[in-house]
Amino acid sequence: MDAISIDRQPANFRAWAPGKAKGGAKMSSYKWVSASHAQQQVVHHEGHRRRFLKWLSASPLLASPGLAAWAAELPSKYPDPIIWAPFNPNDLITNPKDAINVFDFEPVARKNVPPAHFGYMASGIDDEVTLRANREGYLKFQIRPRRLNDVSKVDMSVELFGVKHATPIIIAPTGGNRFFHNEGELAVARAAKAGQHMYTLSTSGTKSIEELTAAYGGPIWYQLYASPSWDVARAIVKRVEAAGCPVLEVTVDRLGGRNQETLFRLRKEDTRDCKTCHEPGAVGRARRRPMYDGIDLSAMKAMDSNNMTWDFIKRLRDTTKMKIVIKGILTHEDAKLCVENGVDGLIVSNHGGRGEDSGRSTIDALPEIVEAVGGRIPVLMDGGIRRGTDIIKALALGAKAVCIGRPYLWGLGAFGQPGVERVLELMRLELYGAMQQTGVKNLRELTAAHVRRA
Ligand code: GLV
Repeated sequence: MDAISIDRQPANFRAWAPGKAKGGAKMSSYKWVSASHAQQQVVHHEGHRRRFLKWLSASPLLASPGLAAWAAELPSKYPDPIIWAPFNPNDLITNPKDAINVFDFEPVARKNVPPAHFGYMASGIDDEVTLRANREGYLKFQIRPRRLNDVSKVDMSVELFGVKHATPIIIAPTGGNRFFHNEGELAVARAAKAGQHMYTLSTSGTKSIEELTAAYGGPIWYQLYASPSWDVARAIVKRVEAAGCPVLEVTVDRLGGRNQETLFRLRKEDTRDCKTCHEPGAVGRARRRPMYDGIDLSAMKAMDSNNMTWDFIKRLRDTTKMKIVIKGILTHEDAKLCVENGVDGLIVSNHGGRGEDSGRSTIDALPEIVEAVGGRIPVLMDGGIRRGTDIIKALALGAKAVCIGRPYLWGLGAFGQPGVERVLELMRLELYGAMQQTGVKNLRELTAAHVRRA
């Protein structure tokens, strides 16, 4: 694969070459106990499911003529780009340096991580059309590469909120990282530091802002679930600011109940007693999150806030000097309101397909938002970013940076910190190669003319 062929990269990329990653952390392994169990684990993903059926029909585990016939009827071309991901559960990478792309980590994480925890991360909502749309959305755009621009050296750096970052790839906030590996968020923050990525801690994280700032070795960003209570939100904001956090991402897209079908199905497969770790209800969940330590939770009804209005943002503005970034914007109307209400940035996000199952990808929503904002505040984006070319498309369409979530959790669940390091390394290597192939030597050169709607 040329894009990540190490010996064709400039000298500064050699530090990221395979073989530099440290050995994988020891973790207990969840076995593929039965065909039905395996089938449940992958049924959420159409591409996986089809490949699974093909494998299954050829497997001595279940020699079913019916399944074989079904698999044979499948079309030869699949709409889902992750059809190229590894599938055979007997042929998994055993060392992060063997990964060819970020998808290589997913089945290893699926094997290592308890089913309910894997399901929590993997799940979308209802039919998971948004989850799939986030990936497939990148196919709606094509790159228009330019030639004869010297790209022998590429600079991936970007300035965000007055600070220069080595890459536009940012660690998105994700909850409960200790569900996937004992070191949890600490492993991710250390890997982010090693690869020079900004790290964002989630309110739902299993480590505190102080621990993470120390592990990262400098200020990190923070994502706020405000809860319906101003007092709870204010206490968290004050603590985060005191820890030196420069950027506060306010999540505005978790409002209602949600049918996380993959999670609920995989939870049934989990033989452990969830009650030994998980107390029911929002307060029970919050008690296991260190960012709520010392806060009076007696009046807290939920971790998310479905009573939030622009008044909350004004109040926040008067409370903190941190940059305020609204996370979860999907329309030009709300993007315009972000600017009018004086926020410092916004993130185009559908919560990784975990909010409403709208069917609309973030890359599809990005152009109308960029147009409405008109360059007045930075627009960031997340959702389905797995490839360097996905990043090229997002940045060419006007995003200043992209945030990635599930891929680093796959790396974490598969191998701990070395897995996360390799996932991030692959993302950087692919972006580097994709910038060269697109014909841009820095991100300022990337413009809307480098993409077209397919
Ligand atoms: C957390 O952000 C979740 O979607 O569960």
